[in-house]
Formats: sequence, structure tokens, C-alpha cells
Amino acid sequence: MYKKILVSLDDFFYKKLMRNALKLSKLGYGFVVSGAESGVNFEHVYDDKAIGRFVIGKYVDRALLNLPAVQATRARKDEIKNILWNEVYNNRIKEKVTTVLDLASGGARYLRELREEHNQGWIFSLCVDRDSKCTSMGTKLTQKENVKNIRFFAADVFKMERLKKFAQKKHRQIDIVVASGIFIYFKDDVVEKMLREIYGALPQGGLVIFTSYEKLNTRKLMRKAMVTSSGEQWTLYYRKPEYWRELLNEIGFRDVFISRDKWLMNNVCYARK
Ligand SMILES: C[S@@+](CC[C@H](N)C(=O)[O-])C[C@H]1O[C@@H](n2cnc3c(N)ncnc32)[C@H](O)[C@@H]1O
Repeated sequence: MYKKILVSLDDFFYKKLMRNALKLSKLGYGFVVSGAESGVNFEHVYDDKAIGRFVIGKYVDRALLNLPAVQATRARKDEIKNILWNEVYNNRIKEKVTTVLDLASGGARYLRELREEHNQGWIFSLCVDRDSKCTSMGTKLTQKENVKNIRFFAADVFKMERLKKFAQKKHRQIDIVVASGIFIYFKDDVVEKMLREIYGALPQGGLVIFTSYEKLNTRKLMRKAMVTSSGEQWTLYYRKPEYWRELLNEIGFRDVFISRDKWLMNNVCYARK
């Protein structure tokens, strides 16, 4: 009986009080109403500017943007950008243009921020997201920011063969595949199949860059108060670096590098075919 009351109070706190307070802030609204995993929310995370209804909404937004889990998301974006930047300049020495395929791109902020490199024609990016809100946001932002040589298109990333053919039609060999903020939503068998397909799509020496979570310290809040765009509870799959290291080696990738952030939440993993 006592336990039942505690559970009801807990549910009331998260599902009523928390949800309603979150809805006042831009990020909170995105998390509890329009879909927690949407790349549109991540754009707001990267902007890091508090927006909300009334003073309280702005205050809640700032509190959410300051959460370690959200800071860790910004940190991982910067890390991906740096890995890409480094690869582009290594290829430049060989006078080679780098082609990137970004799977589940959202607004592909880590790519858009390489504006100079895109505009010089040193990098060409194909960004794929199943959500047309994300692809049109990405297209509009690249126009607004005047970034050339980035294309967004709506497609399912689990149709890798089609994506590879699309790139080939554009006479592009994919050099780097990015998969940031996607594997956390899928079970092991799905993720493993996807990584094998990525391996198959890359040329010898090609690079895969992806992110994963070891843990999140906002787990309970996410599970109880937030929903995905399909209206479902947010189910996330946490994995340790050892899991990725073994899998990548088994598939045939080499030079595996896995970084951990200072909160021990996000891992950025990259490896070469
Ligand atoms: C967390 S966001 C990551 C956005 C971006 N990669 C980043 O790290 O900032 C996840 C994105 O995955 C997209 N997504 C989820 N499942 C997908 C699928 N099967 N095919 C394509 N995109 C998918 C969602 O629409 C969403 O924009």
C-alpha cells in the first residue's frame, strides 16, 4: 500500500508537474511534445540560447541547457567536427576532396560549422534523415549560413544500399560515414547490421565516426517525462566502449579510437576500414 502511494506520487511528479513545467521551455517542449530524439531539438541544444514562455520558461530552458547530459551533447558535436576537420586537411595534402555521408543527420551542425572547407570545395556532404522537418531545416540553415556543397535528403538510414547507389549516381565515393545520436535508439542486432553495412560501403582507408552513451544522468526524467516523435516512451540502449571495440575489430575495422567525455556519458568512436 505504502509502496503504491510512493509510485503514484512519483508518477504525478514526473508525468504532471515535470511535464507541464518542461513544456514552458523550448527544449522541454521539444522533449515532451514534439519528439525527444528530433534533430530540431539538437539544433537548439547547439545554439545554447535559452528560450521559453514567460520568465519561468526561459529559466527552465537555461536549466535544461546546463544539464551535464546536454553539455555532453555539445561537447560531442565539437569532437566530431574536429575529427572531420582533421580528415579533410589530411586529404587536402593528397589533393583529395572528402565526401561525407551523415546518417540521421538532423541539421548536421558539425558539418555546417565546417563552412570554409565546404565552400572551398574540399568537402562534400550528403546528409540523410528520415524526418523531413530536419532535412528542410538543414537546407534552410545552409542557405542562411551560406554553406555550399551540403545536401540534405529524407530517407531511412537502414536502406544503406540505396544510399550508396545515390552517392555513386552523384559520382561520389563515400570517404566518411557519420552516425551521431542514432545507435542509442536501437538494439544490438540492428546496430551491428548497420555497422557491417557501413563497412561494406566504405573504401579501404575510409572512416566511420559515431557516438554512443555509456550512461545518462537524466535517465529517469527522460524515461518518465519525455516521448519520442512517435509518442512512445524514450527507450535508450547504453553500451560500454568494450562492446564497440570488440565489434569494430570483429567486423574488420582497424585503428579504433574511442573517447570518453569528462561526465563519462558520451563516447565518440571512430575507426578505419
Ligand atoms: C538525436 S538526433 C541526431 C542528429 C545529429 N546527427 C546530431 O548528432 O546532432 C537523431 C536523428 O535521427 C533521425 N532518425 C532516427 N531514425 C532514423 C532512421 N531510421 N533513418 C533516418 N533518420 C533517422 C531522427 O529523425 C533525428 O533527427
